[in-house]
Amino acid sequence: VNTANTSMGHYWTYFAKGVQYTLIIAAVSGVIGVVLGVLLALMRLSKVKVFKWLSVSYIEFVRGTPLMVQVLFVYFGVGVIVNLPALISGIIAVSLNSGAYIAEIIRGGIDSVSKGQDEAAQSLGLSRSDIMKSVILPQALKNIWPALGNEFISLIKESSIVSIIGVTDLIYQLNIVRADTYRGVMPVFIAMVLYFIMTFGLTRILNHFEGRMQHD
Ligand code: ARG
Repeated sequence: VNTANTSMGHYWTYFAKGVQYTLIIAAVSGVIGVVLGVLLALMRLSKVKVFKWLSVSYIEFVRGTPLMVQVLFVYFGVGVIVNLPALISGIIAVSLNSGAYIAEIIRGGIDSVSKGQDEAAQSLGLSRSDIMKSVILPQALKNIWPALGNEFISLIKESSIVSIIGVTDLIYQLNIVRADTYRGVMPVFIAMVLYFIMTFGLTRILNHFEGRMQHD
């Protein structure tokens, strides 16, 4: 006789842990991704050929391979040298991945500021760094902010792949609940709703800040 408690409420701590891990992975990877992305974008825009080449190669390679393979590669590849916990491996892989996408967001934002702006600023005699700081970047940021917001939302969803190396994120937890309760669909549905609450909540928060930026 199966005496297991199959009510989902009984397992709320499992889901809570999953949500917590998913949010931690997305947030930490997002922050590291921004730092990496800025570096890669600067390298890509630099006049030094080697920097440019390194940056372009990295971005193309990372965007041209599945995040799933990158997660496995970091976990097992680095594992040959030092034994990293799955969570750390997962965060490293997602950060390295996001950095490439964020570099493109930043470059796209800077490219979208018209050449005319650059030329007008030059004709006023501004220095290169002044042009970047006070003409290009303020306008570029208007395009970069919303795209960065979308990247953070993507990270909440895409980070679900770290469950394959055993990180106890929401996907991992829902599978435990499925196995424990013999209920095939309900745990999946609950995880889906929880993902939606996270992404929709973040969308609302981001819209709030974007709305405030329009008034500046
Ligand atoms: N699912 C895609 C992949 O496996 C995208 C992953 C990452 N996306 C992102 N915006 N960081 O490659």
